[in-house]
Amino acid sequence: RFAYVNGLYLRHPEAVVHVEDRGYQFADGVYEVCEIRGGRLIDEALHMARLERSLKELRIAQPMSLGALGVVLREVVRRNRVHDGLVYLQITRGVAPRNHAFPAEGTPPSIVVTAKSSPRSAGDLRAEKGVSVITVPENRWDRVDIKTTSLLPNVLAKQAAKEAGAYEAWFVDADGKVTEGSSTNAWIVTMDGGIVTRPAESGILRGITRTVLFEVAKAAGLRIEERAFSLDEAKAAREAFISAATAIVTPVVEIDGHPVGNGAPGTVATELRRRFHEFAA
Ligand code: PDD
Repeated sequence: RFAYVNGLYLRHPEAVVHVEDRGYQFADGVYEVCEIRGGRLIDEALHMARLERSLKELRIAQPMSLGALGVVLREVVRRNRVHDGLVYLQITRGVAPRNHAFPAEGTPPSIVVTAKSSPRSAGDLRAEKGVSVITVPENRWDRVDIKTTSLLPNVLAKQAAKEAGAYEAWFVDADGKVTEGSSTNAWIVTMDGGIVTRPAESGILRGITRTVLFEVAKAAGLRIEERAFSLDEAKAAREAFISAATAIVTPVVEIDGHPVGNGAPGTVATELRRRFHEFAA
């Protein structure tokens, strides 16, 4: 395996960053995860646009053009011979002596790109069986709209899910409303067939998969209601599902031990998953 590190394509064991990288010391960085399917990057333009926004919000300099970054992503995918899988891109504020305030102007941001294969069959199998989620209290900061590598609450939530035998943990805010999963957006389908997901204006990351699902639903003649939904509503829903580059659409069949609907993957989630790649660019 190979990784890109600050201008070099290195063999995986030698792909290291400096001890004073601000990503390491402060989680002072941003990232993107993009699906690779048939050797192609899925929704590259949308991921790049979100990356640009994350960098801007954190005032990290854009280290190279988005076009040049795309070339690097494709080269890492090629060198790792990834046909189906994921590419990971991380940009941090660079290497500087430890000090919370920004380093001197002109300090180059650090760039790391890795890629790994993951067979389609694994995701398909998971979607056919459906996954369980648990819930945890929302304890993140109010800038979860930024795709930062600062993910400790998400890490702890995912570990709690794993220890409970679940695939994902949903954060629930002080009003009892579900925000999103530790690494996925959250959706339900109500008993009258409405597809509900939280507005991206507050409390969630605006997922690229989520964005594309609006087009998929429209083409399928399905209605999406963008509004916050409560945990109680989710438990009483006909269906639930999660979305992310790593999950596409994956049905949720159990929330905190309660079966969702009839306890099997729902027809809406299954249809959205089936049609997703017709609309992904
Ligand atoms: N996570 N919400 C959170 C908190 C996420 O971390 C992610 C993605 C999403 C879905 O975004 P998208 O559809 O653009 O993948 C929502 C990535 C996959 C990760 O951290 O591995």
